[in-house]
Amino acid sequence: MQYTANTLEKHWMPFTGNRDFKADPRLVVRGQGVHYWDHKGGKILDGSSGLFCSAAGHCRPEIADAVHKQIKEMDFVAPFQSGHPASFELADKISKLTPDGLDHVFFTNSGSEAVDTALKIAMAYHRARGEGQRTRFVSRERAYHGVNIGGTSLSGMVKNRETFSGLMSNIVHMRHTWLEENRFTKGQPETGAYLADDLDRFAQTYGGTTIAACFVEPIAGSTGVLVPPKGYLERLREICDTHGIVLVFDEVICGFGRTGKAFAAQSFGVTPDIITMAKALTNGAVPMGAVAVKDEIYDTVVNAAPENAIELFHGYTYSAHPVACAAGLATLQIYEKEGLFERAEELSPYFLDKVFSLRDLSAVTDIRGYGMIAAIDVAGGEVPGARGTQIQKDLFWNGLHVKFTADTGIVAPPLIAEKEHIDEIVEMLREKLAEI
Ligand SMILES: Cc1ncc(COP(=O)(O)O)c(C=O)c1O
Repeated sequence: MQYTANTLEKHWMPFTGNRDFKADPRLVVRGQGVHYWDHKGGKILDGSSGLFCSAAGHCRPEIADAVHKQIKEMDFVAPFQSGHPASFELADKISKLTPDGLDHVFFTNSGSEAVDTALKIAMAYHRARGEGQRTRFVSRERAYHGVNIGGTSLSGMVKNRETFSGLMSNIVHMRHTWLEENRFTKGQPETGAYLADDLDRFAQTYGGTTIAACFVEPIAGSTGVLVPPKGYLERLREICDTHGIVLVFDEVICGFGRTGKAFAAQSFGVTPDIITMAKALTNGAVPMGAVAVKDEIYDTVVNAAPENAIELFHGYTYSAHPVACAAGLATLQIYEKEGLFERAEELSPYFLDKVFSLRDLSAVTDIRGYGMIAAIDVAGGEVPGARGTQIQKDLFWNGLHVKFTADTGIVAPPLIAEKEHIDEIVEMLREKLAEI
């Protein structure tokens, strides 16, 4: 097959410069372990786990076999008023990984759907407990909560918002947690916990009893790995408790070992009321997301409905799809068998030291990181983001995949990576960034 603009034209690619890509396509045709291969035969080291999905490495036979078996045995079942065993098993397995008390799991097909589902669950919860006046939501500048209408409204990235008018209007954004004084901090910065007080100010301004939920990524991932300052998440928890606000951690990137524990909630010792997850839930092999909620939220919504009635008027045709469940179960088994979350925790100091070794480069203006995720800010050129896009393209042909958001590279290798893979990632980054 010839990869020319003619043959590529019909696919309108997401978050991609379509004209640019189709003029010089970068196609990935094979994956194995921590590597990809491109359509010209080049081998590429995966420095970003695809898109922070493939924690156990690519093309795991255990997942492929489970998917194959499931699709031959029972490919689809209507998820409304009927079910299949794997979804209950998977929910049970997930609930063993989430913090105690967050034991009920609603399945979606993506992180974006998980976020919009969490918004609706928060609304349903307050309504069920007689507080339907809580219609306002709080999120944060530089947040990324996916691309559905709810998630786009919650997000704080201008490019993702400015084209789309008429988003949810009842959302206010706290300040983000990037501070000049914290540049080149490895792990959690010492200063910045006070930024959580923005939530309290909103409660003072709008009335705490009008706020339904506060959404944050424990580590803001897509926008460049903003690690929460010490005490910041704890303070958010306190303010939420004071005002009866539901605290949602969006762990679509953080979940499943990226921070060295199953969830960032456990790494940071702060328990939210709801956790959204996706990506590494199935190792990226089949689309799936999920929302884990506190038992009290589930009980309140369920018990408020008449006996035998549907309690939550929400769900997707592909909620808990059997094939996704099979992939999820096989994935969680790999994580457990290979101790990948513990491995991430052990490997983290080495990983962070290596990435931070790039700070001597003149083009590097900041580095942040925690667990097995780190961000490198590169001095921008005339057009913001253009340099980052070019670096990502050049790295691809040099044999390295690193996802850039604007002029920030986000490094998050599969959790099966060896030290020499980390060395290789950093060497290739050094070589490229030294040219700037
Ligand atoms: C924190 C967070 N929430 C939501 C999403 C959206 O997930 P998806 O792209 O699967 O819809 C992402 C994607 O990167 C994310 O990082």
